[in-house]
Order: sequence, then C-alpha cells, then structure tokens
Amino acid sequence: MTKLREMRPDQLDGLEQATQSTLDSLCAEKLSLDLSRGKPGPEQLDLSAAMDAPLDSYLAADGTDTRNYGALRGIPEARALGGELLGVAAQQVFAFGASSLFLMHLVAATALRRGLWGDGRRWRNAERVRLLTPVPGYDRHFTICESLGLDMVNIAMLDSGPDMAQATALAAEDSTVKGIWCVPKYANPSGCIYTDETVAAMAKLPQQAAADDFVVFWDNAYAAHDFEFPRAPLANLYELALAAGSEEHLAMFASTSKMTYASAGLGFCAGSDTLLTALEQSLSVMCIGPDKVSQLRHARFLSGRIEVHMAQHAALLRPKFALVENVLQEELGALGIASWTQPKGGYFVSLTTPPGTARHIVQLAADAGLILTPAGAAFPYGKDPNDDHIRIAPSFAPLPELEAAMQVLAQCVKLAAIKQLRAIDEP
Ligand SMILES: Cc1ncc(COP(=O)(O)O)c(C=O)c1O
Repeated sequence: MTKLREMRPDQLDGLEQATQSTLDSLCAEKLSLDLSRGKPGPEQLDLSAAMDAPLDSYLAADGTDTRNYGALRGIPEARALGGELLGVAAQQVFAFGASSLFLMHLVAATALRRGLWGDGRRWRNAERVRLLTPVPGYDRHFTICESLGLDMVNIAMLDSGPDMAQATALAAEDSTVKGIWCVPKYANPSGCIYTDETVAAMAKLPQQAAADDFVVFWDNAYAAHDFEFPRAPLANLYELALAAGSEEHLAMFASTSKMTYASAGLGFCAGSDTLLTALEQSLSVMCIGPDKVSQLRHARFLSGRIEVHMAQHAALLRPKFALVENVLQEELGALGIASWTQPKGGYFVSLTTPPGTARHIVQLAADAGLILTPAGAAFPYGKDPNDDHIRIAPSFAPLPELEAAMQVLAQCVKLAAIKQLRAIDEP
C-alpha cells in the first residue's frame, strides 16, 4: 500500500470511503467497547481463586496472630514477598494495605509535612516543590502531585527510560526540584524497561541534585509482569544506591494488584530504615495494623511460585497484545501515519498518531462506541504538547471485543490522518 502522504487525491478519496464504510458497519453492531481500563480480565482474577481457601492457621512465621492488631510494617512473609518483587531484603519492606498508590501518596505527603529523614528537612519549608515527570507517564502520579500542590516538570521518556542527562541537569541546577517519578519495568504507558545505564544514573541522581531532600519514586508496578520467560532483568536500584550513598533518597513500590486481586491485593514500599520509620510514624496516626490475614493468604499463595503464577497471566495476556500488534500492523503499518510500542510485558501499548490528531481520534472513537483513555491523560494537567499520544489498554476486553475495538481505533486513526492531510494541503 502507498504511504498516505504519497497518495494521489483519488486514492485518498478511495481510502476514506472504504475506511468510513468499515467504521459504519462496525458501528451498526452497536458495540460497547472500552480500551481505557488497565485492569486484569476476569479470567486473570480466577487464577488466584485458590487463595480464598480456608487458612489452616492464622499464625505468621514469627508467631503473630494475623487476626489481631499490630505489626504495622507487615508480617515477615509478606515483607519477604515484597522484597522478592523489589530486589531487597524483607526488613527493608513495608507491607501495608492493598494499594501501592496509597503508599506513594503517603511518601509524598510525609516528605512534604513531617519529613522523611528524622530531621528538619521538609518539602514544605521550600517556597515551591517540583517533581520531574517523564512523559508520557502514569496519570495517577500526576494526580498525587496536583493534590499535594507539587508542581511538575516534564522530561523526555526515551526507549532506555527517562532522559537522564535532562533529569540530572534540571535537578542539579535547581533546589526546588525534589524528586522524580519512575516506572522502571514495562513503563506505563510506553512499556519500556530502564537500561542498566539509566538505573545507574538514577541511583546517583539524589547526590547530584541541588536539593538535599530529593526522592526517587521507583514505582515498580510491573516488576513480575513479563510475557516471556526467563523474565527480563532490571538492574537493582537499591544496590546501586547503596554504592552511591543515596539509599535514603529512594522509595520503591510494588503491589500484587495485577498478580492476584486488583484493590484486594498487597501494597509494598521499600527503602532505608529511616524511610520506613518515617512512614510508620505517619501511618500509626491513622491505623493500628494492616490486614495481615490478606498478607498471610498472599504469602502462602505466591511464595516460591511468583514466576509460575505470572506465566499463567502471561498466557492470557500475550494473545491480546499480539492482536493489538496485528491489527495496527495490518491496518496502519504501510500508511506511515502511526507508530506504536511492542512491550514484552506490562499492561499498555503507546500509540503515536500524526501531531494534532489524538484528541480528534479519541472523539471519533467515542462517537463510534469505543471508550479510550482521554487524550493527554499521560501528561501532567492532561496537556499533551503534540496531541499525538493514545494509550491502549488491552487486558480487560475479551478477544472478540478487543478485535472490534482495535478495528474501530484503526479506522479512526486513518480518518483523522486523512482529514489532517487535507487540511495541510488545502489551507
Ligand atoms: C504504574 C502504576 N503504578 C501503580 C498502579 C496502581 O497500583 P496499586 O493498585 O498497587 O495502587 C498502576 C495501576 O495501573 C500503575 O500502572
């Protein structure tokens, strides 16, 4: 097929008519489609059904009765599980609640108000606090910043991870830059894995920052969410930070939300004992102990079999991501109007459309009955400067619906690109 830009006017007309008629026939099926939900499909949730079997004992490895108050940092076996996901020892892990996002908010709020280091350092002492946000990124990180009044500074997201030269320069020159958001493995939404060089540079960043209260938010939400095995490696940030002397400036996060039950799993935060002590002080005001029964269930269910379990998730997710790739390739591959990521794990595909079309495509799709993540959602304040990024979340839809949804999306991309091309040619 000829590239869109090289088509004669009659070819362009023909493609537009064919595309519109394909879209019309898809719309006639009155489908209610949704590619916005980055959540596990029901068959993935069923993989953890055995976790609900009655427990034969409620006692944790250290004798804690999990049904009672206490053990704010979590029971040893749950902390070990978090340690396995994050590549640190169990003692460095806080296992609390069912959401790592909650713990991210807690770390940011504690850094702001109480301080994370047991001394006078508090972000609120500064007139302004800014965090580096690699874009495209995860919208809920931005929401945490907005809710706490923290400003955001965009930096470029490369295939290797955040642009560390840019991050280092910004952090080194300005003490109001006090942290950075990271999703190091199968990043939401690009799907990239940070290279060894990126992780090494990240470990040194707090030392190079002008601020003495800099925090690396290391959100390893997809630590075990590979599609292929053996699992893709990720350099160990904590070990590198120990060597660089920056370990007190890391807050590492993981959860079992997309391993067992989303919102009924376990949340983890790992770091130095100084960080854990600060979190304990913040949390103890609100809570006497976490749900340790859930921790025990999870530990007994997942310990020693994380990879076996995640391979079952992979078997369900691989065909969905393959379908996304096939439709994009078949429908858009030859036209030269879009590019997309091909992640080997995680939950998302990033689609890049012609500049200035993403919002229009999302609207066209909505008119055709397909809900997409709002254009701009992967950027702070919802502002995609190029208006060219769309996040695809294929995990939840059953395969036939996913196929229809991807067809709708591909037709909308073509229609928007044709319209835009005409607007350029006929100003
Ligand atoms: C990068 C990232 N971090 C965190 C979360 C939410 O994690 P949790 O369910 O543990 O709060 C998500 C969910 O989509 C995510 O994509």
